[in-house]
Amino acid sequence: MDCLYRDPAAPVEARIKDLLSRMSLKEKIGQMTQIERRVSTAEVIRDYSIGSILSAGGSGPRDNAVASEWADMIDGFQRAALESRLGIPIIYGIDAVHGNNSIYGATIYPHNIGLGATRDAELVERIGAATALEVRASAIPYTFAPCVAVLKDPRWGRSYESYSEHTDIVRKMTSIITGLQGKPPTGLPNGYPFVAGRNNVIACAKHFVGDGGTEKGINEGDTVASYEDLEKIHMAPYLDCISRGGCTVMASYSSWNGRRMHADHFLLTEVLKNKLGFKGFVISDWEGLDRLSNPRGSNYRYCISVAVNAGIDMIMVPFNYEKFTDDLLALVDSGEVSLARIDDAVERILRVKFMAGLFEHPFSDRSLLHFVGCKLHREIAREAVRKSLVLLKNGKNGTKAFLPLDRNAKKILVAGSHADDLGYQCGGWTSTWHGSSGRITIGTTILDAIKEAVGADTEVVYEQYPTPETLNGKFSYAIVAVGEGPFAESLGDNSELTIPFNGNEVISSVSEKMSTLVILIAGRPLVIEPKILEKVDALIAAWLPGTEGNGITDIVFGDHDFSGRLPVSWFKNIDQLPMNAESNSYDPLFPLGFGLTYGGEE
Ligand code: GLC
Repeated sequence: MDCLYRDPAAPVEARIKDLLSRMSLKEKIGQMTQIERRVSTAEVIRDYSIGSILSAGGSGPRDNAVASEWADMIDGFQRAALESRLGIPIIYGIDAVHGNNSIYGATIYPHNIGLGATRDAELVERIGAATALEVRASAIPYTFAPCVAVLKDPRWGRSYESYSEHTDIVRKMTSIITGLQGKPPTGLPNGYPFVAGRNNVIACAKHFVGDGGTEKGINEGDTVASYEDLEKIHMAPYLDCISRGGCTVMASYSSWNGRRMHADHFLLTEVLKNKLGFKGFVISDWEGLDRLSNPRGSNYRYCISVAVNAGIDMIMVPFNYEKFTDDLLALVDSGEVSLARIDDAVERILRVKFMAGLFEHPFSDRSLLHFVGCKLHREIAREAVRKSLVLLKNGKNGTKAFLPLDRNAKKILVAGSHADDLGYQCGGWTSTWHGSSGRITIGTTILDAIKEAVGADTEVVYEQYPTPETLNGKFSYAIVAVGEGPFAESLGDNSELTIPFNGNEVISSVSEKMSTLVILIAGRPLVIEPKILEKVDALIAAWLPGTEGNGITDIVFGDHDFSGRLPVSWFKNIDQLPMNAESNSYDPLFPLGFGLTYGGEE
């Protein structure tokens, strides 16, 4: 053991100090540099002393790569990093935001808005722990999760990444950090980053701050608010992330009163680091520095200076690492960025690496591979699906409850764009960045689950868009699943919020002929026209449930009762937006917290 920083028995702060004292300026800047896997050659990693590598959404060894292939790839990157002069391990990061969603066969949990409907912090902590195992099994020690946005306008393309419109619900759901990272020991100073061990991962609270509060829900837009409201509504969940030992915070693309978050020294340094005491590192978003100038990426040296001086510690470059390195070297030489600021950033990055045990265990632990998509995790996901469902209607006015359904009915019609589409069920950030239609991974669609659940003598007829001939047939009842297609980020910004894929037409044509349950698969409330609501016998908001569609049939056929509550207000029409429970003229179709059970309204 020649150097103190390599001694696992030495105090972390002493290891940081020792290592920092040995580093050249270029090596320090290398640690602040995060590059995408596609430009990560062994030479670049070694020669630039690269601190971190990431996968953009879905960027992996190949399409549908399994965990062992990911581990092979990432262990390769790590070997190169350990060959660098000081042998500092990289942190590999990925958006594991509802399970290890880029890896084929991984368990895919409901997206955050569905978890918000469960109000179950203990369940969400278990999801974090299970996700950490499946992420680590792929040799990945870092996930860019959780998103702790407080959703104020469902027109936002990232609505489904938020747990709720209500700050207190989002604060409860930060329990996922304890699941992901493990529980910090008492006595650890508040704000100090913590990772319990090799079965845990580094988490990333994002996007700091106010990402869910932009005007009209425009992604990367402007959150207009007093500092008091910004602090009370959007910043409060970060207190919990920090007290849970959260290791990293990602800056938001958005602005606060016109001030770009990536350039805001007051919020990133004076508030987050000094006032709140955060001692992990702040990471930029993807090309977050490039977005500080117009046209994007111009005047890059100025953008680096502003962002690094504001308090960004690690920069998700992610491709142009040469220019980033050269510009930051020049900025330090000119004094526009102080060496003290560089040292502060690198200390924070090293602190997380030491606390995560990366120096002792830089490589994958293949004994974890059996956890990927394992039965136990799928049972947790199935429980989460059950608890996320919100029953909005059960029985037509005055008639008896329609649900639970008879699993031994003679003949059931299953219809709609979302009845047999695993990709639609999972939504964005699944297999690829935006997600896609079809059998994209291993899982159970709603139709699969219905066929498994019904009696041996029950006939199930499936037609996405039932023909008039089919509709004139004799059915006990129909189950219609409709909703949104998958999307991510700005692609999901939407000012209409109507049910796509002719969903309303399918609902109308089926419900005119037979008793009908409608299951809405969407990452946010959508417009439900009065005449549509009137026609259906039962209506469930299922959000984006993920791979375990049988969580839906568990409830629908009565094995379990509903417990989900709306995590967001369900508006009547777009003109009401933005509308939240504290709005003056609060006139929702269904209010925040609404949810029926088999015993009637709770
Ligand atoms: C994206 C998202 C962020 C994600 C990052 C890396 O643009 O804004 O949430 O973690 O890039 O994929």
